[in-house]
Amino acid sequence: MALMIHPAAGWKIRSYRRDDDVDLETLFLDCLDAFPWRGGPAEELIRLRQAIRTTRCIVAEEPNAGVVGFLTLEREKAYVPHLFVALDWRFCGIGAGLLDVARDLARAPLSLDVDTQNESAMKAYMAMGWTEKVDAPGGRPGQVRLNGP
Ligand SMILES: CC(C)(COP(=O)(O)OP(=O)(O)OC[C@H]1O[C@@H](n2cnc3c(N)ncnc32)[C@H](O)[C@@H]1OP(=O)(O)O)[C@@H](O)C(=O)NCCC(=O)NCCS
Repeated sequence: MALMIHPAAGWKIRSYRRDDDVDLETLFLDCLDAFPWRGGPAEELIRLRQAIRTTRCIVAEEPNAGVVGFLTLEREKAYVPHLFVALDWRFCGIGAGLLDVARDLARAPLSLDVDTQNESAMKAYMAMGWTEKVDAPGGRPGQVRLNGP
């Protein structure tokens, strides 16, 4: 069942299925190529697999392209450990759509940690009305905590 549909752009957001694993990991590793400041991908992949097992995961899918984005959500904390949109599908509203669905699922404003070097993500969050939580450090060194609208 779709949690959100974008009729004009053709993508929908749905719950994660086990057969999404290869697509999610491929998308994730492609995106990490743009994060040279992060360590090797092995540790990141372990974190992702753990998050997929222990959190609510939602997936953006387009009929021809397949999986084009995903988000993991620690529902009780309204915290987003992962948000990734495929490079070719950015600026299509998918990131905002995933966050809207996650906020509905959490029933509370969301928070997340962003790498301070991740300037494009920071610009996207600012465009979406997110703000920096000045009195709380990010989850890892080199990150800042952001609060959603
Ligand atoms: C950050 C990310 C999730 C945004 O996803 P997206 O699907 O491109 O975002 P949307 O299309 O929903 O855009 C939402 C808003 O952000 C703006 N935006 C998105 N990327 C932007 C950028 N690089 N620079 C400036 N504004 C940007 C959009 O214009 C839009 O604003 P508008 O509503 O005023 O037009 C995506 O760029 C991504 O996956 N990046 C790589 C992984 C990453 O950094 N994840 C975040 C980890 S914390």
